[in-house]
Amino acid sequence: MSGHIVVVGSINMDLVVHTERHPQPGETVLGSRFQTFPGGKGANQAVAAARAGGRVKMIGRIGDDAFSERLEAGLVENGVDTTCVLHTPGAASGVALITLDSEGQNTIVVAAGANSLLTPQDIREFSPVFEGASVLVLQLEIPLETVAKAMALAKFHGVKVILNPAPAQGLPGSLLAQVDYLIPNQFELALLTGMQVISLAADAVQSLGTGAVIVTLGGNGVVVHRGSETFQIASHPVPVVDTVAAGDAFVGAFAVAISEGRSLREAAERGNAAGAISVTRAGAQPSLPTREEIDAFLAAHPRRR
Ligand code: RIB
Repeated sequence: MSGHIVVVGSINMDLVVHTERHPQPGETVLGSRFQTFPGGKGANQAVAAARAGGRVKMIGRIGDDAFSERLEAGLVENGVDTTCVLHTPGAASGVALITLDSEGQNTIVVAAGANSLLTPQDIREFSPVFEGASVLVLQLEIPLETVAKAMALAKFHGVKVILNPAPAQGLPGSLLAQVDYLIPNQFELALLTGMQVISLAADAVQSLGTGAVIVTLGGNGVVVHRGSETFQIASHPVPVVDTVAAGDAFVGAFAVAISEGRSLREAAERGNAAGAISVTRAGAQPSLPTREEIDAFLAAHPRRR
């Protein structure tokens, strides 16, 4: 298996303010630097996969505003095929308001804009893109019925489905049943299942028909559940500058490894390394590592279990 990777998802401009600490509700705090970066979970995962060595085609929507050109250019410059990225007359591009504290931890509010206008019909029109693909990558910053349509097409074409259920929300069991690799963080998994204990929550999701459940734990690494098989990979101790898109770095590198037929453990290790590299750098897409960087990082850092 080494077909291309289809990413269906969001494309946002990230408006980032650096602040000593996050404000409480009703409180104003003074920030320092302000920066803009191309982002959006879908676009970040597409760029992450392309940099990790995948052939990537993205399906999404941008607006016809000042941000749209830079957002599309960000994808193209990184080798993502944007033939299926639609410009939406009269709509604003997706925007994410991000505060980043002195520890590199973030809060994010997304105004979906054009992302919310990506329809099942759009996916149907681009159905030829699924032919010959090996992996479909999805997140939840676009309408759920669009996610469902993309999954159905993937299943029809024998394409493996990776779902990063972010932002967190409850999902129908019929949707989870079609997921081959579910990649939530622990909060998303808890929200999805109503269970705090990771192993129980992973079992519950798998009982619905989901394949492997790969839970990213930030500074605690990643824990993987597939049937009766369970293993944990420790995080790499690195200086944290900016945690935005660390999960996206993981998903993109993981997707490439799966598309190349690597084992689940190897895919999780490559994702883990990509996430570790990304937190050492500022910005969403600028922080995502190349294949060479992931290889060099893994060679320099002993296997972490
Ligand atoms: O996962 C990080 C991303 O979430 C940011 O780039 C922001 O755009 C939001 O979609």
